[in-house]
Amino acid sequence: MLDERGFDLWADAYDQTVAASEQEGTYPFAGYRELLDTIYRRIRGKTGKRVLDIGFGTGTLTKRLYDDGMAVTGIDFSAEMLRIARERMPHARLIQADFSQGLPDVLAHEEFDHIVSTYALHHLDDMRKAALIRELREHLASGGEILLGDVAFATAEERERCRAESGERWDDGELYAAAEELEKLVPGLAFQKISFCAGIFIIHT
Ligand SMILES: C[S@@+](CC[C@H](N)C(=O)[O-])C[C@H]1O[C@@H](n2cnc3c(N)ncnc32)[C@H](O)[C@@H]1O
Repeated sequence: MLDERGFDLWADAYDQTVAASEQEGTYPFAGYRELLDTIYRRIRGKTGKRVLDIGFGTGTLTKRLYDDGMAVTGIDFSAEMLRIARERMPHARLIQADFSQGLPDVLAHEEFDHIVSTYALHHLDDMRKAALIRELREHLASGGEILLGDVAFATAEERERCRAESGERWDDGELYAAAEELEKLVPGLAFQKISFCAGIFIIHT
């Protein structure tokens, strides 16, 4: 699992790495573009302009929402990811912070219509994912949605199959969720499968 320095070093090559894995249709990024498109369309289909992105990276998803005139707030602990995202979204509110510590104090009184995270929450185990989701729910405006896209699976069995088929590519340091496990900690959570290794957890107020 990468720390903030690891992401700093990856930042410049990040978009190319993702594109290569996605084009091959291999773990971990098979379905990446479709996953981001699905979240983008879902947000566009609803009202409300305030978006919070947890672990925005180079801003691939958030930039589209930003270009649509949405009020984008994001947190990410990598200074280099933040630098690239800021070049793409000069007027977005981008905050350097570690989400494993919860939301930064500066957002304590903020509310959002949409809270998203893509390919970032697998850095937390299920207990910490659930704790963060509970905190995020407190910042969700009435009728809002939390959309968490990631390497994710409907069942632990599907995750095991992917691990076996991915061979040496599989990263044992990452904590990929299975919906059947996470929903025990987050009642009411829904799961939309995107590819054999990707899916979106959907949580309402
Ligand atoms: C794999 S990238 C995903 C970037 C982007 N959301 C996407 O879908 O392409 C993960 C991002 O989460 C950030 N991240 C990982 N762990 C974090 C943490 N504990 N606190 C804040 N940011 C974190 C990394 O710096 C990186 O930018």
